[in-house]
Amino acid sequence: MKGVILAGGTGTRLYPLTRLINKHLLPVGDSPMICYGIERLRQAGITDIMLIISKQSAGLYTDFLGSGSSMGVRITYKIQEEAGGIAEALELAKGFITPRDRFVVLLGDNLFLDNLKPFVEKFQKQPYGTARVLLKRVNDPRRYGVPVFDKDNRKLISYIEEKPKQPKSNYCVTGIYMYDDQVFEHIAATEPSDRGELEITDVNNLYARESKLEYDILRRWWTDAGTFESLHDAARRMKGIRP
Ligand code: DAU
Repeated sequence: MKGVILAGGTGTRLYPLTRLINKHLLPVGDSPMICYGIERLRQAGITDIMLIISKQSAGLYTDFLGSGSSMGVRITYKIQEEAGGIAEALELAKGFITPRDRFVVLLGDNLFLDNLKPFVEKFQKQPYGTARVLLKRVNDPRRYGVPVFDKDNRKLISYIEEKPKQPKSNYCVTGIYMYDDQVFEHIAATEPSDRGELEITDVNNLYARESKLEYDILRRWWTDAGTFESLHDAARRMKGIRP
């Protein structure tokens, strides 16, 4: 298994902080945000990791993380030139992910405490060409991708609505996704959305439409640290916790 952490994008919701430094290098607890995702992958036995980063702060990433050896992993870096969407960033991992590879994708601003190992083990038993996403029960699902569950098969998501005004469940699709190399065919079949981005929700819906999108639910604390409120919440939660 390999891992891909998406740490591109512009972080506009955290301006002016992110005008100075890339969002995923902001401090959370004792460490830069990016360290927590790396450690969650390492904890699950995934040590071959690609980091997709933007041009902003690229030198800081390599200065700080280097080859990854100090964190017990091997890091390959790739630059996303423009923030063209989560699926566009993921497409850059093609080549690092070779035919029949399976891998875990993390959005770099997702912070969480669950150990991914049991979820990864379930994904490894799924048939080739299927995907798995991790969900979390939340109070404000309108901020996220929201799953609609399959009525006939409790294991499956039938579709995901991105930031719906009237969510059909109290769950959000977190930025923790598991795919094999077939995801690149789905990305290639996806068109830019109204905001001009290749959306990961559109990619996941191609799986869902074919009854190939399974899920698990995170049990422990999770946040997406993309807003000031959630960043501050993350800082409080992670105080004193080393990745
Ligand atoms: O955090 C979970 C949510 O993440 C999901 O529920 C949504 O379905 C999913 O679309 C996403 O929503 P956000 O609006 O929070 O995504 P955002 O644009 O903030 O990007 C999240 C991360 O993805 C960010 O930390 C960096 C990475 N990213 C994003 C873009 C747009 C890239 O690497 N490149 C990009 O071009």
